[in-house]
Amino acid sequence: MDKSALITGAGGGLGRGLALALARRGYHLFLHGRDESKLRALAVELEPYSRPSLYRADLSDPVACSRFIDSLLAETAPPRLVIHNAALMPAGEFLTLPAAEIESTFAVNLLAPAELTRRLCAASPAPEGVMFILSTAARFPQPYNSLYSASKAGLRFLAESLQVELAGRTRICLAYPPLTDTPMTARFALPLPKAAPLPVAERIIRAYERGQNEITWLDWEIMPVLVYRLLPRFFRHLLQSKREMLKNALKHEGNKV
Ligand SMILES: NC(=O)c1ccc[n+]([C@@H]2O[C@H](COP(=O)([O-])OP(=O)(O)OC[C@H]3O[C@@H](n4cnc5c(N)ncnc54)[C@H](OP(=O)(O)O)[C@@H]3O)[C@@H](O)[C@H]2O)c1
Repeated sequence: MDKSALITGAGGGLGRGLALALARRGYHLFLHGRDESKLRALAVELEPYSRPSLYRADLSDPVACSRFIDSLLAETAPPRLVIHNAALMPAGEFLTLPAAEIESTFAVNLLAPAELTRRLCAASPAPEGVMFILSTAARFPQPYNSLYSASKAGLRFLAESLQVELAGRTRICLAYPPLTDTPMTARFALPLPKAAPLPVAERIIRAYERGQNEITWLDWEIMPVLVYRLLPRFFRHLLQSKREMLKNALKHEGNKV
């Protein structure tokens, strides 16, 4: 099998877009999700291009995660590209978040991708590429979205460390999608423009094919990234002054994304 890719959290949003973009390019797909019915619906959409292999696993459960990795390693031809896309965003006031949210967010957003990468990259043949779907929340702190921000920042530094450790063995790519209209962002009253998921996914795959290892967007989000880097004290002052606005925009309406 020449071109193949695993996408975690492929059942909707950006994951579905990435699956469509890769299937059109002739990739065999290993699609992971929590909800089997979503994966089956996506498999029907992909029928004109490919017949994907489907994997159901709750990545917040370390045992289920480990079994999922076992089943990938048992494949005669494991995926050549691994895309860590699954994530949770339990936004809201930190002090009101249930303890279980802390565990599940770090498990899905950071621990599962770390363990998947460790075991798949230690195997032979190792994947040619591993792509980490990050977020601008990994580039500056986001009050009222603290768990997401902290877990994505951890994932970013894992990915940047592996870029050095695995150089010459497995290519590590970091993608920072813009604010996108997906189930993850649907319930937040953000007064900001959202991109459509399919063009975002298509652009990520095009950039990957061109050999880019850091995929970013030149949009309004570049401003907070630059201010945080160049003027950190001013950035902190800005966050304080926009506290109420952030709190209202990221109101927590439930425990699950
Ligand atoms: N949307 C944005 O504005 C934006 C911006 C920057 C980065 N991103 C990143 O893009 C990626 C995709 O997000 P999205 O916007 O497409 O949101 P989404 O539609 O909510 O997708 C998240 C995926 O993660 C899966 N997932 C959540 N918890 C899981 C668990 N416990 N076990 C296994 N899978 C689990 C979900 O599965 P189910 O379908 O079963 O719920 C879903 O398929 C994420 O890494 C996100 O951080 C998004």
